[in-house]
Amino acid sequence: MSNNTLSITDNRTGKNYDVPIEHDTIRASDLRQIKVKSDDFGMMTYDPAYMNTASCKSEITYIDGDLGILEYRGYPIEQLAEKSTFLEVAYLLIHGELPNQEQSDYWVQRIMRHTYVHQTLTRLMEVFRYDSHPMSILISCVAIQSTFYPEARNVDDPKVREKQIWRIIGRLPTIAAFAYRHRIGRPYNYPDSTLDYASNFLYMLDNMGERNYEVDPIMAKALDILFILHADHEQNCSTSVMRSIGSSRVDPFTALSGAAGALYGPLHGGANEQALLMLRQIGSVANIPTYIERVKKGELRLMGFGHRVYKNYDPRAKIIKKIAYDVFNVTKKRSHLIDIAVELEQIALNDPYFVERKLYPNVDFYSGIIYQAMGFPIDMYPVLFAIPRAAGWLAQWAEMVQDKDQKIARPRQIYLGAPRRDYVTIAER
Ligand code: ACO
Repeated sequence: MSNNTLSITDNRTGKNYDVPIEHDTIRASDLRQIKVKSDDFGMMTYDPAYMNTASCKSEITYIDGDLGILEYRGYPIEQLAEKSTFLEVAYLLIHGELPNQEQSDYWVQRIMRHTYVHQTLTRLMEVFRYDSHPMSILISCVAIQSTFYPEARNVDDPKVREKQIWRIIGRLPTIAAFAYRHRIGRPYNYPDSTLDYASNFLYMLDNMGERNYEVDPIMAKALDILFILHADHEQNCSTSVMRSIGSSRVDPFTALSGAAGALYGPLHGGANEQALLMLRQIGSVANIPTYIERVKKGELRLMGFGHRVYKNYDPRAKIIKKIAYDVFNVTKKRSHLIDIAVELEQIALNDPYFVERKLYPNVDFYSGIIYQAMGFPIDMYPVLFAIPRAAGWLAQWAEMVQDKDQKIARPRQIYLGAPRRDYVTIAER
């Protein structure tokens, strides 16, 4: 018998089964042979929230939560944040390798040309109420693009796939900037495709018609690095949604609007907002000890701390902390929240409650402070997450579409409802 198997004894029947192990994993469908009677459905696994189920094989992003490691296609996030650009990282995630100069020039040119939106979308923007949440606008505007580009449903054609990828990565900053300008009642700025990706986004958000308007390069660089850090995080909630919707072979606009919907939720893309609100609520360094005591009593959670996967310092949090100081140097408005955050972090990292539970700052602990210093309103935070994460969603979607192991996503259930019964007319109920 091979050592690479798992032996299972079914104590209901006394029968033994050997199930192959590959990559420290067994195939759930191999359990179906385990039956009491020959016409039984067979054994399943019960795994709400996919706590211990691999839904795919992937070559895109690697995380070691215990060691605090995050790599895109094998490249450490620290090196990419220091040396790369968001568009290069998007290429890496989607194509698997860093581009050479020619590939890079073509990719950047294609994406930046697709920053222009269909005029119908500009008109559509007007129908949203003045106080519409920009993330709801983004979700709707991504979905509607499937009506402009019906060919996008040919998801098995690599050329068609690539074109939709350019369109989505190109358009998202424009949609986000238009949603923001709509909210504040200002005319839209059309994209300037001669600028880099982050600079063009800041230009569309901020420009007030100044002839010599210049985007601050330090702000643009900080935003670009934040985009790199948020570009992918393997099989999280929104990425699983992207794969799941995409598995029905629907077009990527529809799938991506669903993924953005998942990101919109407060347990996913909304945690940086919660972290910022918490720092405001603490109010001053002097109030930290009382706040920590309340957290330890279980009355509150320290927002921006802890992670389902990382049981060590989230590598993205370290990089973000440094960016915060770069941004403050430009805005000259050092937020007192950073002092509270740094002190809170120090106290928590030395307190046995947090040490024993392996609770460390996550990506959301400092990002809200940076967005605030850059002047973004709080409801733009999930939008700032969605723009770069689209690169990851599209990379994972493209991998899924080409994966011969994949079929339409269709989980099983354990039915615990009423047994068969006969219909009763309303008069008899
Ligand atoms: N503050 C205080 N205590 C915490 C925190 C926290 N932020 N997070 C976990 N704990 C404690 C729990 O109370 C629990 O203690 P116990 O064993 O005494 O009951 C223990 O640590 C384990 O917590 P779980 O909830 O089981 O951990 P889980 O992995 O399910 O939760 C999560 C991870 C949801 C991120 C959690 O740490 C949390 O709520 N953090 C605050 C919210 C946050 O920052 N979310 C952003 C995550 S990053 C992202 O989504 C991009």
